[in-house]
Amino acid sequence: MTEKEYKKLVDIALSRCFLTEEDYPVKGLAEAMRYSLLAGGKRIRPMLVLEFCRISGGDPEAALPVACAIEMLHTYSLIHDDLPCMDNDSLRRGMPTNHVVYGECTATLAGDALQAEAFGAILRSELPADRRARCAMHLANAVGLDGMCGGQFLDMLGEGKTLSASELDEINSRKTGALLTAACLMGVAAAGGSEEQEEAASRYGAALGAAFQIRDDMLDVLSTEAELGKPIGSDREEQKNTYMALYGAEKCVELIDRLTAAAKTALQEAFQGTSLLCSLADSLARRRS
Ligand code: IPE
Ligand code: IPE
Ligand code: MG
Ligand code: MG
Ligand code: MG
Repeated sequence: MTEKEYKKLVDIALSRCFLTEEDYPVKGLAEAMRYSLLAGGKRIRPMLVLEFCRISGGDPEAALPVACAIEMLHTYSLIHDDLPCMDNDSLRRGMPTNHVVYGECTATLAGDALQAEAFGAILRSELPADRRARCAMHLANAVGLDGMCGGQFLDMLGEGKTLSASELDEINSRKTGALLTAACLMGVAAAGGSEEQEEAASRYGAALGAAFQIRDDMLDVLSTEAELGKPIGSDREEQKNTYMALYGAEKCVELIDRLTAAAKTALQEAFQGTSLLCSLADSLARRRS
C-alpha cells in the first residue's frame, strides 16, 4: 500500500468511531471527540503501525484498530496540549481548537475519553490476546510518567529557562519521540514480530521522532499559519525551549538529516521491503506542515 492508501484506510476507519444515536445522552462528548479526530492530520503514527506490521510479516488490515488507537491517543494529546493551561493555542489542523469550540471542560473530557478509548480499541481488536496485550503495553509505556506526560511536564517546567541540548533532547524524546516509537513497536507487536525487529523498530522510531520535533520547532518559526494549520510563533509566546532557539535553522537541518539517515540505517538490521518507511522519513525531514 502507498502512504495515500494507508491514510485513506485510516481516515475511513476513524470516521466510523464514536457515531452515536440522536438521543444518546453523551452525544455532545462524542461529537467533541470526533471533531478533533476527524479534523485532518497527517496520520503518521497509524501509518507507522500498519507498515511495521506489514514488514514484520503481519496483515495490516488486522492491525487497523491498533492504528486507529494510536491516532486517538495522539489526538487526545493535541487537544490537551492546546488548552489555555498548556500551550494556549486556538488553531489546530486548520480548525479552531477543541476548547474554543466546545469549552475547556468538554475539551478536557474529550481528551480523557479518547485516551481510554485508545486502549479499548486495542483490547477489543481481533488480534491474538498476547499481541493485543503487547500493543497496549507499548502504548502505556510511551504515554505515561516516563513518556509523553512526563515530557509535557518537563516542557512546562522548562518554560522561560535556558536548558542544555541534552535536557531538550530528554524532553522531546519523551513528549514526541516516545509515541512515534510506540507506533513502530505496536506495528511489530501486532504482527507477532521478533525481539530483534522490535529493537530495530525502536531505533528507527527514536531517530524519526527526534527529527520530527526538530522540524516541528522549525515550522513554528518558518512556516505560515495557512500552510501549517496551527499558529506560528506559539513557542516563543510560551517561552518554550526549542531546537530553533538553541541551534538556528541551518544546524537544525543538519541534525534532521543525520537523524533521518540513522533511522533508515536502523531498518536494515532487521527488515526487508523498507522503501515506504525510508521515503516517509525523507519526506518528514522536509515536510511543510
Ligand atoms: C504534532 O504532531 C505534535 C507533535 C508531536 C509535534 P503531528 O505533526 O503529527 O500532527 P498531525 O497529526 O499531523 O495534526
Ligand atoms: C507537543 O509538542 C507534543 C505533544 C505531546 C502534543 P508541541 O506543543 O510543539 O506540538 P504542537 O506544535 O502544538 O503541535
Ligand atoms: Mg506543547
Ligand atoms: Mg503545542
Ligand atoms: Mg510545536
